[in-house]
Amino acid sequence: MNLYEKIKRKKGYISALAPMEGVTDTIFRQILCDIGRPDLFFTEFLNVEGFCSKGRERVIHRLDFSKREKPIIVQLWGNTPEDYVETLKYVKKLRPDGIDINIGCSVRDVLSSGQCSALIKEKDLVKEIIEAVRKACGGLPVSVKTRLGYDEVDVEGWIGFLLTLNLDLITIHGRISKEGYSTPSRWDEIAKCVKLKDKISPSTLIIGNGDIKSLKQGKDHVEKYGTDGFMVARGIMDNPWLFSGRKLERVSSKEKKDVLLKHLLLFDKTWRGTKPFNSQKKYIKAYVSGFDGASELRKNLMGVGTTKEVVKILNKFY
Ligand SMILES: Cc1cc2nc3c(=O)[nH]c(=O)nc-3n(C[C@H](O)[C@H](O)[C@H](O)COP(=O)(O)O)c2cc1C
Repeated sequence: MNLYEKIKRKKGYISALAPMEGVTDTIFRQILCDIGRPDLFFTEFLNVEGFCSKGRERVIHRLDFSKREKPIIVQLWGNTPEDYVETLKYVKKLRPDGIDINIGCSVRDVLSSGQCSALIKEKDLVKEIIEAVRKACGGLPVSVKTRLGYDEVDVEGWIGFLLTLNLDLITIHGRISKEGYSTPSRWDEIAKCVKLKDKISPSTLIIGNGDIKSLKQGKDHVEKYGTDGFMVARGIMDNPWLFSGRKLERVSSKEKKDVLLKHLLLFDKTWRGTKPFNSQKKYIKAYVSGFDGASELRKNLMGVGTTKEVVKILNKFY
């Protein structure tokens, strides 16, 4: 039984935090371990061509994770099978719990270089990449995160093809590449993918992704659409307590303050001097929300440049 089947057997479904570049880093994931964690974490995506170039130092932090974040899946992207193999020599030593290949990102620059969801149009290359990863990853589960198609929904053609590749898991974001985020996630189409996998590859698990805003909604979608689990991305920034099942309004402002400070202290300890403090503002916004005076406090905090200044302002408020 692989990792995904084990998790599913325990609870009946898998809850996952999506990979989000610049958001779901090791600091945030460690905080979530304290306040409400999913069953499965993914790293931010790492470009294998970048990793195999002089730019390695700029991207390697994406692979940072601590033991408590396990099970954690390393997500890779790129379109050069040899670079996947080279990158995996390093990644394997970190002992992650699985390898995920991004065939979903639809950012223009990425598409024009033929990577991520542009690969939906390159089935032969996708097969080559997956086979290379499987050979090189030392027996770890191999998965793909993708969309429903490139310029049209193509459940039979695209997802049907992926289902012939013996993957352990496929995460499906219920939009096509062309849509970015402009339309609602099509969970009814994700349900069709599940039916197709029952026919083609019953042992592959399917996680649905798109527009999940609460634990209850995630569980309801699993039941309604028949997936093996659900994945949350943007919803975690609306409510970092999402995986605990608590509504943001039910978490006291004192607890939010404590969590914010813990987050910033961990950031300082890990990355002060290597990452700009401004990268932390999105978390300040996420924690300082949903209580009287939050909006005013948030405004004051947006001008700061150090954790010390944040502490000063918080001490005045509380
Ligand atoms: C800021 C941001 C960064 C993202 N980075 C990644 C990434 O590194 N890898 C990936 O597969 N998807 C990435 N995504 C896509 C999400 O994982 C997810 O598929 C998408 O946001 C839809 O889920 P949601 O409706 O719950 O937000 C990113 C999305 C956002 C908003």
